[in-house]
Amino acid sequence: MTRATCNDHIFLVGFMGSGKTSVSRKLSAITGLSLIDSDYRIEAIQHRKIPRIFAEEGEEGFRKIETDTLAGLKFEGKSIVSCGGGIVCRPENREILKSLGTVVFLDIPLDEAIARISNPKTRPLLSGARPVEDIYDERIPWYREVADITIQSSGKSVLQVANEVKAALESRGQL
Ligand code: S3P
Repeated sequence: MTRATCNDHIFLVGFMGSGKTSVSRKLSAITGLSLIDSDYRIEAIQHRKIPRIFAEEGEEGFRKIETDTLAGLKFEGKSIVSCGGGIVCRPENREILKSLGTVVFLDIPLDEAIARISNPKTRPLLSGARPVEDIYDERIPWYREVADITIQSSGKSVLQVANEVKAALESRGQL
């Protein structure tokens, strides 16, 4: 028996603090589509919090789990998917994102993203050896590469951003 597959998801990508979690929740509420958060999904499957996965397996171990989790979404019904900020780091993830749906990039300047992060302890990369500016600069081209839609989220409320995403999806016939 073949399993039903889906290539119609709506992925929200962007740097840590860009508002993916709160915007995806609002978007799910206003569209009625179900919501998947890749980080929560990983924690639920692994029975471990993300900082513990990083501590025990390093970033590479986490990225592998992230790829498996992302690939598994092929077998889920159409959903809004809030992605961890580093999901774009692996080329194979970028291919999976492009093949499984529409990708929305929430674009925000680094200083604003950092200012929005309420609990940096939950993000191991913020206390790692690499300056966050380097990580941000490296990723921006990858977010742009995968994006079907880019929304500037700087200075806007969660509802404003969610409404802009919804309007962009509607104009493409994806809602
Ligand atoms: C990461 C971002 C986090 C989480 C993990 C790694 C990253 O998600 O996936 O700590 O590499 O940027 P958020 O973007 O939701 O903070």
